[in-house]
Amino acid sequence: MDIDFKNLLEVDEATQELVRTWRNLDDVRKFMIHDHIISLDEHKRWIEKIKVGNTKKAWVIYYNKKPVGLMYLSNIDWTKKITDWGLYIAEKNVRGKGIGSEALSNLIKRVFDDMKFNMMKTFVLDNNDIAIKLYEKIGFKKKGNVEHKIIRDNREINVYLMILKKQDFIQNL
Ligand SMILES: CC(C)(COP(=O)(O)OP(=O)(O)OC[C@H]1O[C@@H](n2cnc3c(N)ncnc32)[C@H](O)[C@@H]1OP(=O)(O)O)[C@@H](O)C(=O)NCCC(=O)NCCS
Repeated sequence: MDIDFKNLLEVDEATQELVRTWRNLDDVRKFMIHDHIISLDEHKRWIEKIKVGNTKKAWVIYYNKKPVGLMYLSNIDWTKKITDWGLYIAEKNVRGKGIGSEALSNLIKRVFDDMKFNMMKTFVLDNNDIAIKLYEKIGFKKKGNVEHKIIRDNREINVYLMILKKQDFIQNL
């Protein structure tokens, strides 16, 4: 599969803006904890934080040379060697082709092998069956209790914490 990753700081401004467009798509933001529309200002501040700090990183995912999604780390804790992360394949026509699996494996290797971290964690909405299936396939475990609840379209949705310990990572799917 022709998949490639580029640091968000190294792509052109149009691609950085495309990332904001993706993040604001209904079909992406409905699975995010914060589902408000991201303004250009907020997006620029987020990119600036990636640039100047060491608590965030992001890579654009390319499939057949075209940008299709984003994977990122946030709240990187260099002392505890734990990080939050996220992922989306924004272009719907390329979902279900294994790009998400490959991107997540790549992200995990960056965290465990390059950064020498021990654990990765993410929050997932319990109506996001595809993501939960993908994360479990790769070794993530749902932490037992509901972490918190959010309201979406007048419905209460449980949010779970999913954790991957280095020794639980299932490689070569
Ligand atoms: C979750 C997401 C990243 C998965 O990316 P993807 O490229 O479509 O996933 P893959 O093709 O690698 O499939 C991975 C696994 O997901 C599951 N899956 C994928 N498409 C599916 C579908 N249409 N129905 C059910 N399961 C599906 C399967 O378990 C698959 O494993 P398999 O290969 O053993 O069948 C993508 O659907 C997405 O971006 N969703 C919207 C944003 C989002 O939810 N991000 C995660 C927030 S926690």
